[in-house]
Amino acid sequence: MSTKEYKRTLITAALPYANGGVHIGHLAGVYIPADIYARYLRLRGERVMFVCGSDEHGVPITIRARKEGITPQDVVNRYHEMIKNSFEDFGISFDVYSRTTSKTHETFAADFFRKLYDEGKLTEETTTQLYDEEAHQFLADRYVTGECPHCHQPGAYGDQCEKCGRDLSPTELINPKSAISGSVPVLRETKNWYLPLNEYQQWLREWILKGHKEWRPNVYGQCKSWLEMDLQPRAMTRDLDWGIPVPVEGAGGKVLYVWFDAPIGYVSNTKELCETDPARWGTWQEWWQQQDTKLVHFIGKDNIVFHCIIFPTMMKAHGGYILPDNVPSNEFLNLENDKISTSRNWAVWLHEYLLDFPGKQDVMRYVLTANAPETKDNNFTWADFQERNNSELVAIYGNFVNRALQLTKKYFGGVVPPCGELADTDCAAIAEFKDVKARVDQLLEQYKFREAQKEVMNLARIGNKYITECEPWKLWKQVDAALQKPVVARRGDGTLTSADLKRQTEANACLVEASEAAARIATVLYVSLQLVGNLSIAFDPFMPFSSNRLRKMLCLDSFSWDQLGRTDILPAGHAMQEPGLLFEKIEDEAVQAQLDRLERIKRENEAAVHKADPVKPDVSFEDWERLDIRIGTVLECEKVPKADKLLRFLIDDGLEKRTIVSGIAKFYKPEELVGKQVCFLANLPARKLRGIESQGMILSSEDADGSLSLVAPQRGVADGSPVK
Ligand code: 2FM
Ligand code: ZN
Repeated sequence: MSTKEYKRTLITAALPYANGGVHIGHLAGVYIPADIYARYLRLRGERVMFVCGSDEHGVPITIRARKEGITPQDVVNRYHEMIKNSFEDFGISFDVYSRTTSKTHETFAADFFRKLYDEGKLTEETTTQLYDEEAHQFLADRYVTGECPHCHQPGAYGDQCEKCGRDLSPTELINPKSAISGSVPVLRETKNWYLPLNEYQQWLREWILKGHKEWRPNVYGQCKSWLEMDLQPRAMTRDLDWGIPVPVEGAGGKVLYVWFDAPIGYVSNTKELCETDPARWGTWQEWWQQQDTKLVHFIGKDNIVFHCIIFPTMMKAHGGYILPDNVPSNEFLNLENDKISTSRNWAVWLHEYLLDFPGKQDVMRYVLTANAPETKDNNFTWADFQERNNSELVAIYGNFVNRALQLTKKYFGGVVPPCGELADTDCAAIAEFKDVKARVDQLLEQYKFREAQKEVMNLARIGNKYITECEPWKLWKQVDAALQKPVVARRGDGTLTSADLKRQTEANACLVEASEAAARIATVLYVSLQLVGNLSIAFDPFMPFSSNRLRKMLCLDSFSWDQLGRTDILPAGHAMQEPGLLFEKIEDEAVQAQLDRLERIKRENEAAVHKADPVKPDVSFEDWERLDIRIGTVLECEKVPKADKLLRFLIDDGLEKRTIVSGIAKFYKPEELVGKQVCFLANLPARKLRGIESQGMILSSEDADGSLSLVAPQRGVADGSPVK
């Protein structure tokens, strides 16, 4: 269906997890583009609904609760409020912001699941999963830690190793441990319900790969690579005690998978809104089940598979639902060249930003759109923030608006002057800005927000250049000069001398010139004010706060997107208010304070990384005595062929020579170790490494960066001396 045939647009923005605040990465990735789109369509007079809410289920929330010693409900209550307020503060204009712990949602999601279950659309599978016998519960992936089988990092999570970044499954971990009780988990069978994605693969291929070639390359590409593999059934339930209970007999202790219930939140939140004001919003079915609704999901790139493959499959299996027309997904935003991370506090939090830069929501909105990670990961730096504020918002947009309004106030008492005959410069400026609307429309329809904003900024540039070229302040000097010329008075006998006549003629000529200059000033300011009016509309979806302030100054009460490009937005004779500054310069100190804060965080993180591991559980003295640790001298040392990490040592252990293989090759050159004393565990049973029998273990210490340093006595001792 072409865009024109749609009757309404339903915009969803990914439901944020209610386990932390909102940072600039979230804003840039999802909420600002979604908000620009919603505001734009509303300005065009279209029927729009913009839906979001907090995602309040899932394992991360239970982990946070456990860490803080509070309930998951306490966690989500706290963050739901905080997130909601941040969005409001930044003007994210949701029509509804609800939550997935609402009663409406729980019932809705359970009914959705039950229908799939009743109609046999889900399959039942029994699998073995890790179970904590002390805590009496199955362990979600994140609740299991252990050694990564790939890079051997200790403390890797059951779903991913944070060191090497590889995806893991909890049963792959070496020496797995329950993060709840610390006990060693056991394998136990459990039954769950699966969505057979494999049965929908062909349909998904047709729908996306053939039907939606226009989706952004990053979205289309990710779908393609998923759809080229064989899709597997995916569990839609979990063994967990936080979430929506699985509405099936005998499913105690199981809840709906968070990625099953969260996207249904879009629908249940729509229902909540419709029920609060049915006259305005109609029914939820109108929005979700009528083919003339255009559904657009705004998400970050980590959500692509859920919104393009899993949720559409759920809707298809259920039947009756529309599918998304587009899924504009952004890449990630970095902060000062480093990945934004909640756990490392490497972020600019919205609530903190507003404390440091009160009233400057639009500056952040502008900078994040100017740097939007639409096609690739992008970077936010405070230097760029300052630069864009000072040399774009202040020096171009703000400066132009200020000049137009101040001059109108000074020369015409703040009333829009009449437009005289247009000169070539005026026509050129008008022609340039008349095209802007079509370009911005086209870009916004294609979800190219960064370029669209650039176009609008260009409009301000045109205005600024125009007023600079026309120099109305110079023309005013002529008017001023003419007003200074004396008007010649007749003599007592009513006569004028020829000198008097000459002076009068000169004064008259001067007045003619001045009135021409005044007319020209009026025209230049008239055109400039129309441009200012245009800017207040065109910037509205991007920077709603400053646009609103500007319209207040202009006394422009009613406006619409259709007025863009017009030259009668502010008619002659229209009185405006006292002008004020739209933007103000951001000083170096303010930026330095932010950089200092980040530097502090970096140092704290480094200190945290360097913090030693907690002490391991006690061993008995007998255990200690059983370890035979000795000193020996390295007689030979060489690289083990085809093994990057290994060195073969020949050690004099005081009794005889023994071979030990050690994974230390990255940190020492073999020749520099010959003749040195090392410390080794002598009674470790021999084992083969790369075909070489290793008789013991050389001891080394691991630094925070993973580098190894051999342990050795401070003074030379006899080979074979015990370490006690
Ligand atoms: O990635 C996230 O933050 C998820 N909470 C997004 C959920 S989007 C939707 F499906 F609800
Ligand atoms: Zn790893």
